[in-house]
Amino acid sequence: MKKTALSLLCLAFALSTASADDLIKGAMKKNWKPEDAVAKKVGKGEATDAELDSLIKCVQAICAATPPRGEKAAWVEKCKALVGALQKVKAKDAAGVSEFKKANNCKACHDVFKPAAK
Ligand code: HEC
Repeated sequence: MKKTALSLLCLAFALSTASADDLIKGAMKKNWKPEDAVAKKVGKGEATDAELDSLIKCVQAICAATPPRGEKAAWVEKCKALVGALQKVKAKDAAGVSEFKKANNCKACHDVFKPAAK
């Protein structure tokens, strides 16, 4: 139940219709890729508290989803590091933004969990 609610919250920012398989993809397209994506704002220290909350919920939702490649346990670890860093940013902890940037390394995560381009 909880998982479903979180997924819906995440997708409210992503796609209007999507299967669980598309959750990570949709979240990426909406919250990571665009120039004004929330994930980019966090890296610049520009995200509002509401944006941080939405991104935390979104990361928790993709954390519960299974990535198309790689180990689920390692995936959960990565997502948890992201959530931890986001919570620090929200708590105005000075280390938060740099921790987030480290945890949010697009290539490091894609190399392990994202399938090769089709
Ligand atoms: C915690 C791991 C993780 C991080 C960090 C991450 N991604 Fe992703 N990303 C994924 C996974 C997993 C997929 C593959 C999803 C799928 O194909 O179902 C993906 C897919 C994508 C896609 C493809 C969506 C599509 O149309 O298929 C884009 C674009 C993307 N990521 C952008 C980014 C950018 C930009 C960053 C860094 C700012 C980033 N991602 C950081 C895990 C991550």
